Amino acid sequence: MIAPGVDRVTQWVSQSARAPSAHNVQPARWRLAGAYLELWEDPTRWLAAGDPVGRDASIGLGMAWEGLRLAAGADGWQLGEPERDAAAYPPPPTPRRRARAALAPGAVADPLAAWVDSRRSCRQAFVAASADAEARLEAVFAAHAGIALRADGSALEGFAAAHQAASIDLLRDRSIGAELHAWLRLSRRHPLATRDGLDAACLGLSPLEALGGRVLMRPAVAAMVARLGLGGLLVDEARKTRTATAIAVLAVTDGVDDFEAGRRWYRFWLALAAAGFAAVPMSALVDTSRGRDALAALKAVPAGRRAVNVMRVGVAPAAPPASARLPAAELLEVAAKAA
Ligand SMILES: Cc1cc2nc3c(=O)[nH]c(=O)nc-3n(C[C@H](O)[C@H](O)[C@H](O)COP(=O)(O)O)c2cc1C
Repeated sequence: MIAPGVDRVTQWVSQSARAPSAHNVQPARWRLAGAYLELWEDPTRWLAAGDPVGRDASIGLGMAWEGLRLAAGADGWQLGEPERDAAAYPPPPTPRRRARAALAPGAVADPLAAWVDSRRSCRQAFVAASADAEARLEAVFAAHAGIALRADGSALEGFAAAHQAASIDLLRDRSIGAELHAWLRLSRRHPLATRDGLDAACLGLSPLEALGGRVLMRPAVAAMVARLGLGGLLVDEARKTRTATAIAVLAVTDGVDDFEAGRRWYRFWLALAAAGFAAVPMSALVDTSRGRDALAALKAVPAGRRAVNVMRVGVAPAAPPASARLPAAELLEVAAKAA
């Protein structure tokens, strides 16, 4: 079997690293073993408080896998279907393999690969979509029906109000607040600001708001503000959700696991970018009992499907900031050749 060169694979890993992950934790690590590529999970990146069952971790790994497949494909190499390893949560303390597949020359590039660099999580208010843009959006939903369902427009206010309240519920939980705080990089001088986590620009915070956030987002302060019924001072989600062109409910049929859901979700997100749209997940709707109750009341998920997340979708802004990523060289290990 022909094996690709390390420089080439490092390029693919760098592209794959642009895939989204909750709090920008970037759980994916890679190991090149001859013509096989293995995806490993770094357990130090698992969000134990916010993601106890590992759903977001597995989704992020599935997204990274799809990112690698797209990058290799654009470079003329085919990454086979993943052979998967079982993975229960909590994870073991050391990295574990999650999937592997053979690489072989001779792939046809997938047009979605061209959108990896410009896709973003966009957290600001959206402008209205033109009729042309609306038509493109409908086509994206139709092409990705295995993961994304477009909620009825009349339910927008229901999603906005429920997500606002559910986001404040999350702040009341000190351990979830502490975990989020650990991944915030609100100062440019934060030692990890260029590597991972959530910075002020990506969160859409002005320098003054970022300064205030450094005080208000301390777990004890945030929890107290939320308990005092002042969560609206910290959470401005409903106003922004109301400007969305569409709400996408990400839901898979029973039997499709989180890793596969992540692969499909990433492709949908890239297709949105290709159609001139941007989006941001609204995880509080699946991470809180209030959010799940609201999804049930809104009849957001048809029978036989399970929700993995929800996103608000709107016209992509001109130049949204790019979030930080770890250098690819740190993410790839090359197995020593057998003697
Ligand atoms: C499973 C998952 C859940 C996420 N949940 C949220 C969320 O609730 N709110 C939010 O603002 N961003 C959320 N994100 C977006 C990540 O914060 C984002 O992907 C990461 O910071 C990298 O930024 P980028 O998407 O702009 O590349 C989520 C992403 C994933 C993959």
